[in-house]
Amino acid sequence: AFPQQVRIVEVGPRDGLQNEPGPIIPTEIKVELINRLSAAGIRHIEAASFVSPKWVPQMGDAAAVMAGIKRHPGVTYSALTPNVKGLEGAMAANTEEVAVFAAASEAFSQKNINCSIAESLARFVPLIEQARAADIRVRGYVSTVLGCPYQGEIDPAQVAAVSRELIDMGCHEVSLGDTTGAGTPLKAKQMLAEVTKAIPVQQLAAHFHDTYGQALANLYAVLEEGIAVIDSSTAGLGGCPYAKGASGNVATEDVLYLLQGMNIETGIDLQAVVQTGHWITRELGRHNGSKVAQAWGEC
Ligand code: HMG
Ligand code: MG
Repeated sequence: AFPQQVRIVEVGPRDGLQNEPGPIIPTEIKVELINRLSAAGIRHIEAASFVSPKWVPQMGDAAAVMAGIKRHPGVTYSALTPNVKGLEGAMAANTEEVAVFAAASEAFSQKNINCSIAESLARFVPLIEQARAADIRVRGYVSTVLGCPYQGEIDPAQVAAVSRELIDMGCHEVSLGDTTGAGTPLKAKQMLAEVTKAIPVQQLAAHFHDTYGQALANLYAVLEEGIAVIDSSTAGLGGCPYAKGASGNVATEDVLYLLQGMNIETGIDLQAVVQTGHWITRELGRHNGSKVAQAWGEC
């Protein structure tokens, strides 16, 4: 059955901006984007990434971003952390939730974080222990759940196994990443059916990129199976530096429009998100990837 409420996890400031080509986006722009999104009613924003700036230069000012944002009560501002060094940076910046990221594909794991899946999981053990000891919640990502740019088809049983490990290690939720956006609705349902044999659907989120224009259809398919947490990116910002050709996440505006049409609550002001999407794409000199934003123009 469809959920009555959905929690949106806005990943534009991280997944979106990490991939912007060209000059480093000024910290103030990142901060203003996050502030506008929380003012629009978004309750969970992935704000930064404490990864190696050599690997992802756009996220090199993570500490300054976390220090600069206005923290609204009731809003979670989270950050990616690939290792204990990242966690230390996130903790110094008062981050209340962090996210570790693994993959269902060995090849993608190597390209993205320079280690095997097993090595990445082993690396997360001390990270999660230290985070939990400091009362910091940890989210887990599994990438390439519907296919890998280097390896092709991915066995849903592998997605289920990595997801289960992340939950057993102490992640409160696992976000299932269609990194390349190559998935289609039936495939998404089949993958989810396998994963929910290992983990209750209440602990899962959908993180779908829109490279092939399938993300909304895929979301509809998994909503029907009870997924109630959706990762999305305002204006469809982004891509993935280690998945060539991958376009951004599904646009937050378009997800909100879909959910409104289904009478599913989010508590978010769609018009304010549309305005924010127009603002940030102007600032970046970038195309607005949201269809709703294109249809409405400057509202
Ligand atoms: P490595 O080179 O194997 O690691 O990278 P290392 O430990 O040898 O460190 C190399 C250098 O990085 C050292 O500096 C470290 O100090 C530094 P040097 O001695 O050369 O001057 N370093 C760090 N600096 C800052 N913060 C840190 C950190 N760690 C090491 N946390 C590593 C391994 C994991 C660090 C690297 O591969 C990395 O940072 N990768 C990040 C890749 C990334 O951010 N990808 C995008 C996010 S994932 C994604 O987008 C998918 C997702 O959206 C879901 C989906 O769509 O599927 C989540
Ligand atoms: Mg992503």
